[in-house]
Amino acid sequence: MSYLGIDLGTSGLRALLVDDTGAPIGATEASYPVHHPHSGWSEQDPADWVEALEKAIGTLRAQYPAFAALRGIGVAGQMHGATLLDADDKVLRRCILWNDSRSHEEAARLDAVPGVRAHSGNVVFAGFTAPKLEWVRKHEPEIFGRTAKVLLPAGFLNLYLTGEHVADMSDSAGTSWLDTGARGWSDALLEAGHMRRDQMPRLVEGCEAAGMLRPDLARAWGLTHPVIVTGGAGDNAAAACGIGAMQEGQGFVSLGTSGVLLTARNGYAPAPETAVHTFCHAVPGRWYQMGVMLSATDSLNWLSSITQTRPSELSAALGDALQPPGPVRFLPYLSGERTPHNDAAIRASFTGIGADCTREGLTRAVMEGVAFALRENLEALRATGANPSELIAIGGGTRSHYWLKLIATTLGIPLVLPADGEFGAALGAARLATLAPTGEAMETVMQPPDRGQRIDPVTGLRDSFDDAFGRFRTAYRATRDIQ
Ligand code: XUL
Repeated sequence: MSYLGIDLGTSGLRALLVDDTGAPIGATEASYPVHHPHSGWSEQDPADWVEALEKAIGTLRAQYPAFAALRGIGVAGQMHGATLLDADDKVLRRCILWNDSRSHEEAARLDAVPGVRAHSGNVVFAGFTAPKLEWVRKHEPEIFGRTAKVLLPAGFLNLYLTGEHVADMSDSAGTSWLDTGARGWSDALLEAGHMRRDQMPRLVEGCEAAGMLRPDLARAWGLTHPVIVTGGAGDNAAAACGIGAMQEGQGFVSLGTSGVLLTARNGYAPAPETAVHTFCHAVPGRWYQMGVMLSATDSLNWLSSITQTRPSELSAALGDALQPPGPVRFLPYLSGERTPHNDAAIRASFTGIGADCTREGLTRAVMEGVAFALRENLEALRATGANPSELIAIGGGTRSHYWLKLIATTLGIPLVLPADGEFGAALGAARLATLAPTGEAMETVMQPPDRGQRIDPVTGLRDSFDDAFGRFRTAYRATRDIQ
């Protein structure tokens, strides 16, 4: 038997086929564009997701005979995106993505409605789904009037796979329409956002059966046995499943486009005043908390594009040994910031540049700025009682050993790299896909990956990074006041 995990990301889709034991059989990727019709806007065409999925399935079928024994599918998705469908399930406009900040005024208005934070357990951030619909209501009233259903990206693939409007709790918690503690749609939140229950998908837990693979798709894919599609998850919850972060205190730091610091929680302990996200986990009775900074590897990619130097070269030029904090400070707010500032309008800045500043000096400042922003996230998480003693490090930025040492030292926490192999959101989705068909226990399936290298904080530099973190905070306050 085999199981399929799909990670519907921002830059592409990854499809991972695993066997009965959860071991990878094979994986493939297909990419699609992000459209930026205006500054701060970020959209994708849901038809591109389906095309990428079909392309990935074609590759898996051709390369891995085990695909024919498929029994379960799980989808992990980039969170918060609003896919609007009419009464015939036709897509009404491009999906507005998680990193689109056009609806920051609507977000601030919703966030100020009494009871909204208490019901959702979260600040209404500009990237969340409810403010996007408020924006559509104001600027595209004809489309708003025809909106029969709103699906998140993973929910849209669930519809394609099963023919049903169905979504999991972990992804739905990022809409600002879900009562995150009670794990159900909230009438109060829907009313605040001018939405109705009938516009929402049916809710299931991420590991529960959401529906069966459509018979016509099963035929087209050469499958003869029934295939269960499970609820799936938002990408961060799925990544937590992929590295086995299910229990209080277990967590990860992800250095991707956005930077995420996540810890699993056994109970529901929201703290919206700290701009920490509190979302349902992908299994019943569990939640997780995370701080999200919007521009992690994006900051280095930006420096890479303006210096015409690959990120790996920028990092390699710093050498291997961690240097003390440099004189230049970088605030990594290229697209505004979520945790802890909740400020869609703030922008990045460099301070302290001298005539002797080189490209390496700017690289150090950028990497340090991201590390300090992650420290802000850790402090915000600690304020809620979460206290990780080590973090698994995942994401493309972990290819820079310098950056890992810098982050471990700035956070004062050891980082552990997973040993080579699969451990991301696609694996988490594949693990969710196995639970419903096999009936296996969550604890058996959601295991941590084999441990690779451990990166300890550089003790001799802790104090100087603590001091530099203080200066980073001062630079933030000054920048906020002048922008
Ligand atoms: C989480 C968030 C991002 C996206 C990226 O709140 O916005 O991590 O899920 O895919």
